[in-house]
Amino acid sequence: MDYIWIFGVTGDLSRRKLLPALAKLLQDGRELVIVGISRKQVRQSVFRAYVEKTCESVCEVSLNGLLDRLFYVQMDFDHLEEPEDPAVISAEKSLADIKAELEEIYGAPSRSLFILATMPEHFGRLARTIRGSDIAEEGTAAILIEKPFGYDLASAVEYNERISRYFDESAIFRIDHYLGKAMLRNLFSLRFSNAIFDAVWCKDYIEEVNLYALETLGIEGRGGYYDKAGALRDMVQSHMLQMAALVAMDAPEDLGTEAVRRSKIQSLRQMKLNLEESQFGQYTGSESENGFLDEEGVAPDSGTETFASLMLEIDAPRWQGVPFKLVTGKKLSEKKTVIEIKMKAAKLADQMDGVVTPNSIEINVQPEEGVRIRFNVLAPSSEAEIVERELDYCQSCLIGEKSPEAYEKLLIDALKGDLTLFASWGEIEAAWELVDPAVAYVRAHPERLLRYEAGRDVLGRV
Ligand code: BG6
Repeated sequence: MDYIWIFGVTGDLSRRKLLPALAKLLQDGRELVIVGISRKQVRQSVFRAYVEKTCESVCEVSLNGLLDRLFYVQMDFDHLEEPEDPAVISAEKSLADIKAELEEIYGAPSRSLFILATMPEHFGRLARTIRGSDIAEEGTAAILIEKPFGYDLASAVEYNERISRYFDESAIFRIDHYLGKAMLRNLFSLRFSNAIFDAVWCKDYIEEVNLYALETLGIEGRGGYYDKAGALRDMVQSHMLQMAALVAMDAPEDLGTEAVRRSKIQSLRQMKLNLEESQFGQYTGSESENGFLDEEGVAPDSGTETFASLMLEIDAPRWQGVPFKLVTGKKLSEKKTVIEIKMKAAKLADQMDGVVTPNSIEINVQPEEGVRIRFNVLAPSSEAEIVERELDYCQSCLIGEKSPEAYEKLLIDALKGDLTLFASWGEIEAAWELVDPAVAYVRAHPERLLRYEAGRDVLGRV
């Protein structure tokens, strides 16, 4: 039996991602006990009814298994700072008591995950409380931390230092849910198990790399958080730079977690953002949609970017002169995450008949999952005319709903103790080193903030 403790269980992340993933794992036969913790003063039955109602629209499986294994504890995170504070003692006691009660019914945990789905300022005191209450057994306990991991490098260093007092790096699982997405996991295999990709993955054959993470959703009631974060901290520091590192990294020495992490860190450290050549935007309202400045929690004169198109240079022999473009934004005309690799023209291409388009490789991350390769062939029954055709491996068309959600995969890995799909401290640090100056640049250059109408296609303009 594994125990999962979720701090901040009534928050957006739990409702949208964690609880649905856990419901699925229970349905698949995993033996789990889930303890939800938040500040709200509610009874067990009310909590279960709340989960049932909020999960209805997002959970794809029956909730019966989840509701039977779900327990609630109220805890005031703000009053956990001082060891002498009575609230600490009672919280620690109550967590230990809860564990003892659950163990009587379900037996001791084989593994315990402590998921901090809270704001990062709570990380240190929660880590201390978990350690102090003796509910985390050495060797089988892991702490899972959600983004945002800090607001800038300085705060990230501080949070990391505080957590590291109580948990070793080998027990800290920093979640970036994009790393659990099927096609981003596949990118590694695609690159390193195929000579046809591995051999051409460099400046000699690749002209440019474009990474898109486009969203139709807006900020979904998270005005207070997003106005401070913006696209750079919310999407670029984590998901976009992780995707870029997976494309740009050199082959690790082996497939072990440490080697993969070293290779990603090295690649992140070679990256430089060309801010003058980048574009930033903020959505305005339309007839049916709020503009960013109308959203609750957003300052009326906010200069926060909800869109970024960043030019990235990579100072590595493999990538000299190859531009990487990272594009992400809210309230765009489509939801799509894709990695586009545009190849250079082949040597004799300009001597051939017809339009010879350089090859491209598209790795579709979502909503479609798959790989599409465009290449040239002789047109059927033509003497010499070249035409473009494509090979399309649509993974989601083949396996459809069976493709596991990113969070399910990440939880399974954390239960196994496998850190490969989690960000190391070195990756977080290197990503903040890139993003901090970019945030400062946007704040210092409000004139560079392009306005785009919610729901309109802006890509043609950048
Ligand atoms: C989260 C961001 O990390 O990722 C959100 O905080 C964003 O703002 C979300 O909407 C996108 O995730 P996905 O899986 O829907 O692409």
